[in-house]
Amino acid sequence: MTFKPAKWPRKLRSHEWYGGTSRDNIYHRSWMKNQGLPADLFDGRPVIGICNTWSELTPCNGHLRDLAERVKHGIYEAGGLPLEFPVFSPGESSLRPTAMMYRNMCAMDVEEALRGNPLDGVVLMVGCDKTTPALLMGAASVDIPAIVVTGGPMLNGKWRNTDVGSGTALWQMSEAVKSGEMTQDEFLEAEQAMSRSPGSCNTMGTASSMASMAEALGMALSGNAAIPAVDSRRRVMAQITGRRIVDMVKDDLKPSDVLTREAFENAIRTNGAIGGSTNAVLHLLAIAGRAEVELTLDDWDTLGRDIPTIVNLMPSGKYLMEEFFYAGGLPVVLKALLDGGKLHANALTVSGRTIGEEVADAKNWNEDVILPLDKALTQEGGIAVLKGNLAPNGAVIKPSAASPHLMKHRGRAVVFEDIDDYKARINDDALDIDETCVMVLKNCGPRGYPGMAEVGNMGLPPKILKKGIKDMVRISDARMSGTAYGTVILHTAPEAAIGGPLAVVQNGDMIELDVEARRLHLDISDDELAKRLSAWRPAENMSVGGYEQLFKTHVQGADKGVDFDFLVGCRGKAVGRDSH
Ligand code: FES
Repeated sequence: MTFKPAKWPRKLRSHEWYGGTSRDNIYHRSWMKNQGLPADLFDGRPVIGICNTWSELTPCNGHLRDLAERVKHGIYEAGGLPLEFPVFSPGESSLRPTAMMYRNMCAMDVEEALRGNPLDGVVLMVGCDKTTPALLMGAASVDIPAIVVTGGPMLNGKWRNTDVGSGTALWQMSEAVKSGEMTQDEFLEAEQAMSRSPGSCNTMGTASSMASMAEALGMALSGNAAIPAVDSRRRVMAQITGRRIVDMVKDDLKPSDVLTREAFENAIRTNGAIGGSTNAVLHLLAIAGRAEVELTLDDWDTLGRDIPTIVNLMPSGKYLMEEFFYAGGLPVVLKALLDGGKLHANALTVSGRTIGEEVADAKNWNEDVILPLDKALTQEGGIAVLKGNLAPNGAVIKPSAASPHLMKHRGRAVVFEDIDDYKARINDDALDIDETCVMVLKNCGPRGYPGMAEVGNMGLPPKILKKGIKDMVRISDARMSGTAYGTVILHTAPEAAIGGPLAVVQNGDMIELDVEARRLHLDISDDELAKRLSAWRPAENMSVGGYEQLFKTHVQGADKGVDFDFLVGCRGKAVGRDSH
């Protein structure tokens, strides 16, 4: 696909606010000048928003104010007027009940801010898990020129001469304390060493996966995803991103030019190759919905099925994002996909060049970090989409993070009705469970939790951990942190809280998992299942009002990306009327 730049100069969107001599034009400019902006900055040059998810409550994005200054440098250098503005920042590590509940709120904030303000283009400054999809969703719904720059991952955690991966090490150490392999004091000591620089999680968790998705979609400049937050090259990336957005406005290069079906196919395959997060499934479905690109859950299975996982990073592998960057980063992975005929080389990127052109010269500097195809972590990376009477609308599992011996398994269900039930009973040695059982957790889906919490990788009972068992089959309608691992079936749809079959699983039922056959089956008769479903009643609707009520009323299922029904689609940039 070739992109034909629009003619320049031409009338920009911001001219409607700043470009004339009417009372309203003077009003708009005059108030802006209280910030000390010289008159010549309103001479018709592109006005570029810097949409910033900086927040001290989102520690992974805590350095984005500083990085925004570099973006501003770049915008000024290229002849634009930068105007930075904040949007709601859903921080993964602290926000309750879960940051996912607020992804859509952030996306709404972004969409309305972009549409309502005199912006010709925007730089999306993101990092922590939900901030990347939220800003892409909002920008896709408005469709003015937009480019992503991420904050970059933290340096490797270091404790007792070993690398400590964000999240992954936390889950491992927590289990080690329960099994007696580690003391609580050691755990507290390790806490000091986990997060030792600005930046997002340093594993191939959701943040790094979504940074990779932004790059694979063509929405960030090549090489953006892996540069550590504190590496001087991160600042360079921010500055050239600032320069580039001005040219994108000149060329009228919009998200709708980049976010094509081919771009999403590239991203899905890339997620398989990097061993990326299951959360990317939800986010890409939601972004595609905003971009009005046809994409389904089944596409994840079809497109990712034969993609080997070649990035040897935790949680699937051994290393962290720092090593990934030193090895050459995402362009090396995209080049491997390109050479294997698994990349749409002609997909356009925000650079104005195709993704094939961007990665043609990428070189792998460490084949233990980015593995050759014949030494892949798993030949079938990607996300497996399971179907069956337990998940009519689908469920997902990440094979690269699961135990091979559990990929085909039949076991007795041990049911937890919700997360409180799980927490109340999991440590009880009287719990009737062994390692062959299947742990079932209900009511943790989009409506049930609400917000679809990252609790699907529920910890094993201590009495099983003490036997040295590290993994069991677990099923829920929840999500899992991208930094987590295990034979964990997630996103089961329809969810329990709306009467999906998961709601009627009982203790003692037999459940069959066959990842190869993509099957998830509750071994009861059709009649029995129908009888239980017709007897099922929803929990009393406790109206809480406010945003939570809006969320519960309008959120769609996991198979649709958990976006609000009324936010799907591109509504464009037209505002309607002036404010006065
Ligand atoms: Fe923010 Fe992982 S918690 S990136």
